[in-house]
Amino acid sequence: MSPIVSAIFLVLLGSLLPFIRYLLRCAGNYKNGQKLPPGPRPLPIIGNLHILGNLPHRSLYHLAKDYGPIMSLRLGSVPTIVVSSSQAAELFLKTYDSIFASRPKLQASLMSYDSKGMAFTEYGSHWRYTRKLSALHLLSASKVESFAPMRREKMGSLVDSLKKAAAAKEVVDFSARVEAVIQNMTYKMVFGGSDDDEFDMKSLIMENMNLAGAFNVADYVPCLAAFDLQGLTRRMKAFSKKMDEVLEKIINEHAKEAQYKKNQPKDFIDELLSLMDNSQEEIDRANIKALMIEMIVGAFDTSAATVEWTFAELLRNPRVMKRLQEEMDNVVGLNRMVEEKDLPKLTYLEMVIKESLRLRPVGPLLIPHESTEDITINGYHIPSKSRIMVNAWAIGRDPSAWPDNAEEFFPERFKATNIDLRGHDFQLIPFGSGRRGCPGMHLGLTTVRLVLAQLLHCFDWELPDGLLPNEMDMSERFTLTMLKATHLLAVPKYRLLVDNV
Ligand code: HEM
Repeated sequence: MSPIVSAIFLVLLGSLLPFIRYLLRCAGNYKNGQKLPPGPRPLPIIGNLHILGNLPHRSLYHLAKDYGPIMSLRLGSVPTIVVSSSQAAELFLKTYDSIFASRPKLQASLMSYDSKGMAFTEYGSHWRYTRKLSALHLLSASKVESFAPMRREKMGSLVDSLKKAAAAKEVVDFSARVEAVIQNMTYKMVFGGSDDDEFDMKSLIMENMNLAGAFNVADYVPCLAAFDLQGLTRRMKAFSKKMDEVLEKIINEHAKEAQYKKNQPKDFIDELLSLMDNSQEEIDRANIKALMIEMIVGAFDTSAATVEWTFAELLRNPRVMKRLQEEMDNVVGLNRMVEEKDLPKLTYLEMVIKESLRLRPVGPLLIPHESTEDITINGYHIPSKSRIMVNAWAIGRDPSAWPDNAEEFFPERFKATNIDLRGHDFQLIPFGSGRRGCPGMHLGLTTVRLVLAQLLHCFDWELPDGLLPNEMDMSERFTLTMLKATHLLAVPKYRLLVDNV
């Protein structure tokens, strides 16, 4: 074929492609005579795995434009449904929530004492028990408030060290500072902890996140699990052994010290040990250890990444940063630091955080759910044991839910609405919704609000080396959560009127 003829052929094929896709969609996607939601044709063995790429929330967002808000894929041998609109999310997470409230059994559950915790546990009595226990004893509003003095102290030290950097006009690695302070807060809440323990724990938690976030082919082609082709099972076993030693040591120390800590707020291990002593409770040592790991992993990365993304958006939008600082100057003034009691009055900060979580939800696909029964939704058959991925990232920029410049960072869009983050408004679900919605939302939001308010009230921030806001690197890295691919660097300038805050 001459080059001209092949060029014409390619152009024609390109323009016909949407039509061909439309015909395939109309032809329907059937299995055993039942109509599945539309979706791309799977390849042998890998199914549609090759479509996911490094940033699956983005690939699935584009694919849903062709196949619609309830889309069917086969990932390896796993039937998967991708949900990409607020109406569809409401069906899966509210109307039929009880059918979609389980979790698939992933290889990484090996690191949670074989699903003895909560987050990766199938729907049933054990999950119900650990969830209730966490809500009552670990993540309740009163428990979160009891750690306010600890948060105040940690933020005070961070502000002090940033003041020194500001005096020396240093460029600060904002991401590293925020990660460190939130990590320390989380460790203190979960296990009190001496600095030695923290060190041991930090490298282990990083290994846990790397392993849990790694793409594990055995989760999609289970018959390959026995071969451990990627060496992940070997690493998970080594991790579990080392982690178990550290946790046993910490638990034993807590058991010994319990009687001396009467007037201090109880950390999570103290709480769980006292439950274990109560014969009415059915909690054992493996439950405690699995919950500890989940609380640290659930709390740390999510809150730190939310602060980093929000701060990056503020640096890119100086108008919003200025308005936020004006709000804090009015509510708090420049003669003292922000206190937690000020946070409910910072209404513009609240809009900024909502806007950031709308565009950059750190769990863009939530955690996978699994269906426990066959069900028909919108005329489509959803087989039992399907994996459900809810694309919160796509929903947050869906023009039918967000008609005004959905891609623009514009916190004022929340001014005239009651849309909140609790999962009742399905166009904004960064914490999920329904039975499996995030139980740590109050703690996460308290941390995010406090860290942002403090750092923006105490300091003005500039980009280093004459970098312009529109030149900032906003690329993403997808692991367990959606992180900023590169660290955020900025130059602080102290702005309060008093030196000793
Ligand atoms: C800004 C902070 C946070 C964000 C954006 C966030 C987001 C999420 C999301 C999207 C889910 C999955 C919901 C689903 O699958 O439907 C989730 C679940 C979960 N989160 Fe969070 N989270 C945050 C903070 C926290 C904190 C502070 C903790 C605990 C200390 C925590 C513990 C958990 C747990 C245990 C689950 C699993 C719940 C279950 O399976 O029943 N999260 N979170």
